[in-house]
Amino acid sequence: MERRAVLTSGAVIAGVGVAAVTLAACGGSSGSSAAASPAASAAGSAAAPTGSGQIAKVSDIPVGSVFAFQDPQGGPAFLLQPAAGTFLAYSGICTHNGCTVGYDEGAAEFACPCHGARFEAATGDVVQGPAQQPLTKIAVVESGGVISYA
Ligand code: FES
Repeated sequence: MERRAVLTSGAVIAGVGVAAVTLAACGGSSGSSAAASPAASAAGSAAAPTGSGQIAKVSDIPVGSVFAFQDPQGGPAFLLQPAAGTFLAYSGICTHNGCTVGYDEGAAEFACPCHGARFEAATGDVVQGPAQQPLTKIAVVESGGVISYA
């Protein structure tokens, strides 16, 4: 059994097994609705970005952590800093049938609760179906300690 946590937008994900963002409904018929955990509540206090186009401050995303945010269309998205100064962002929408993926820190993968697809965090590529397409990348840039849309 996997441990799951539900986080809200603007939350740093660290130290939890699998986390999901509750920003979009599942397109499938067997969606997950895990309850919030104490870890998720504690992580929900991250600072919000301060201006248009800004996603987060570098200080909001310790190396190795994942930051959940909303993309410009209001969909779930994740920002990662896998190594100091390296920032990656992906849509949190599973490419199989539109469920919201969660982050599995132990495996460094995104996991879909609906049908089991998994995506490599470093690339967004599918590591387990039924999804056939990688997670949609979001181009980001860091400047002055702030990560923004590129
Ligand atoms: S919606 Fe089917 S695996 Fe994600």
